[in-house]
Amino acid sequence: MVLTVTLNPCVDFLLRVEKFTPNDTNRVKACEKDAGGKGLNTSRVFAHLGGVTIATGFLGGPTAAFIRHVMDLEGVVDGFVTVKGETRTNFSVEDDSENPPTTFNQRGPEISADEWKRLVAKVETLSSKAEWVSLGGSLPPGVEKNAFYELAKIAQKQGVKVMIDADGEVLSEGLKANPDFIKPNGPEAARVLGRKLESDEDYLGAAKELYQRIGGGDKYVVISRGARGAIMACKDGVFVGTSPNIHPKSTIGSGDSMIAGMLWGHTNKMSAEEMLRYGLACGAATALTDGTAIGDKATIERLLPEAKVASA
Ligand SMILES: Nc1ncnc2c1ncn2[C@@H]1O[C@H](COP(=O)(O)OP(=O)(O)OP(=O)(O)O)[C@@H](O)[C@H]1O
Ligand SMILES: [Mg+2]
Repeated sequence: MVLTVTLNPCVDFLLRVEKFTPNDTNRVKACEKDAGGKGLNTSRVFAHLGGVTIATGFLGGPTAAFIRHVMDLEGVVDGFVTVKGETRTNFSVEDDSENPPTTFNQRGPEISADEWKRLVAKVETLSSKAEWVSLGGSLPPGVEKNAFYELAKIAQKQGVKVMIDADGEVLSEGLKANPDFIKPNGPEAARVLGRKLESDEDYLGAAKELYQRIGGGDKYVVISRGARGAIMACKDGVFVGTSPNIHPKSTIGSGDSMIAGMLWGHTNKMSAEEMLRYGLACGAATALTDGTAIGDKATIERLLPEAKVASA
């Protein structure tokens, strides 16, 4: 079982218009609503692949019901802690132009000290049955920057492997727990290392350095590079992953899907190279879907033969 933690999930609400005009009335052609949040995305893809997964984190108010409905439909077991504040809704507006969407992201509900304690207790109980705990995404107000460090320690005490997907200070704090797997994208890896990453050599060096930083041994560092694939450092060496060649629609959630593919590979005792191939195929399958939608099993399996991994 894979336990995912999403501390600040959201409902993603997308409005489609012909041409977005600020300060005017915009006629809506279509609107789409989906459940969002990094851990939740990872759980959804892991469940699509046929795995057992529980998602936890904070949910509150009427928006929580919609997210629970999506989890129920997709076979993700609900392990969320109910909080007093309301789970946020993030809005975006997309028009027929080539311009990127206009987004409006809320901060999320304020989490009290008592609510945090309840989450910690929940992670402690649920992680005892897990093979992996996957911690991902932004933190809601009231939660300390070392949240992932604290949760990682709880999981590790029970012998459970930990994956962390975060940015900036939250990631650098999390790294102090020596997680078993991290998957920063290029800019996230550059920020945590404090230097620019440009050439392929820079990326190979960065993956090796991060692998050492989390303690080496039986651990995985994957730096994802969007359409350019990914670099992996692990005990078997350093690898270059090439993603299937696709025409992407929206890459939102590609990283979270890649994590699901890697965890699917690991829980099914695949080699590191096979794990990365699954990761690349899952990321690309999600890039093929519109908006916040995630890839399905048939697409992942169709793309798998096109995901290539070679020694660096
Ligand atoms: N345009 C694309 N074409 C093919 N594969 C893609 C594309 N975009 C993403 N992928 C696949 O998904 C993986 C993860 O994507 P990316 O590096 O964009 O993650 P990310 O920035 O963490 O995404 P997010 O945090 O939004 O989920 C890539 O390594 C690649 O395998
Ligand atoms: Mg990401």
